Amino acid sequence: MISLHHNIWLLIICCAFSFGVEIEQLPSPRSLCGEGPHWDQATQSLYYIDIEGPEATILRYDYGENKTYAATVENVPLMTFVLPIENSTDEFLVGGQYAAKVIRWDGKSAKGEFVRDAFEVDKIDTNRFNDAKCDAAGRFYGGTMRYRECNGPFTDVANASFYTFDRDHGLKQSKQNVFISNGLTWVGDKFYYIDSCTHDIKEYDYNSVNGELSNERIIFTLRENGKVPEYIFDGMTSDVDGNLFIATYDGYKVMKINPKSGELLAEYKLPAGQITSVAFGGPNLDILFVTSASKGSPPAEAGHLFKITGLETKGKAGNKIKL
Ligand SMILES: *[C@@H]1O[C@H](CO)[C@@H](O)[C@H](O)[C@H]1NC(C)=O
Ligand SMILES: *[C@@H]1O[C@H](CO)[C@@H](O)[C@H](O)[C@H]1NC(C)=O
Ligand SMILES: *[C@@H]1O[C@H](CO)[C@@H](O)[C@H](O)[C@H]1NC(C)=O
Repeated sequence: MISLHHNIWLLIICCAFSFGVEIEQLPSPRSLCGEGPHWDQATQSLYYIDIEGPEATILRYDYGENKTYAATVENVPLMTFVLPIENSTDEFLVGGQYAAKVIRWDGKSAKGEFVRDAFEVDKIDTNRFNDAKCDAAGRFYGGTMRYRECNGPFTDVANASFYTFDRDHGLKQSKQNVFISNGLTWVGDKFYYIDSCTHDIKEYDYNSVNGELSNERIIFTLRENGKVPEYIFDGMTSDVDGNLFIATYDGYKVMKINPKSGELLAEYKLPAGQITSVAFGGPNLDILFVTSASKGSPPAEAGHLFKITGLETKGKAGNKIKL
């Protein structure tokens, strides 16, 4: 691990070379809590969710049209993640409070419909589902969180969990004592994971044959001399070079970290503070899409979708779930 002072110097050095980086706000409704971006190659769309509207909405930014479509889903007031389902063009798995639900949406109309509950996690009424993704084999990895923020009255309560699901073996609780299960991404035979309230990034060995995770270790921490910054780590993705891109909630930035060395390679400033998640996409997979939230009294840009271009790297499209 490397100290933050050291990181600041690295940042000055590397940002001197980031001339071509551009940040643009995309035409999108203002989300209260935009989350869970997933790039779909087939439709050249970015799917994401507004978790916390009066009713949650599922959104689709159509890259070709440069336009975002949004829908609410009847009888599904809460949606926390969205994963397209393999071999379907209009069915998605979304996170409810305890149940992962199959919904149907054509990507354009203002209403989607509930199809069925797929699987259900432990019912703890202070908790709900949060971020989730699939590995290349279509297995589900996702977790729960309590409704309070890290600095709320339940700071010391970590009774959320992290789960995996695959259609042959069903649901498995992979990790307990989680505060807010958040960003997750794979790089080769490694898996990276964020529990926002531990203020660090954990690495696991990932077995692509059976999907199992082992050997948890911390590869980066925001903690310095017992203190943590005002922001927390939120959603995360990785590029083809194996570097991590991490959204910072209340941090006005996306951080790029090399997980092998623990170095902070770059920071990309955004006009909104509550940066919630990131995903690569676009025809060449070289655009970083960024979701944000607009709670409290934030700047006008907050809650919209952004794209960062000129990063001189690429990522991978999202994986669909095999249900
Ligand atoms: C997308 O729409 C926005 C807002 O209308 C506009 O500023 C931007 O140039 C458009 N981008 C493309 C690639 O058409
Ligand atoms: C989880 O934590 C909350 C907050 O303290 C508590 O109300 C709830 O009973 C806990 N549930 C379990 C199953 O531990
Ligand atoms: C999707 O379709 C392919 C080709 O028909 C099949 O091999 C695969 O098992 C299907 N996947 C699921 C999850 O049904």
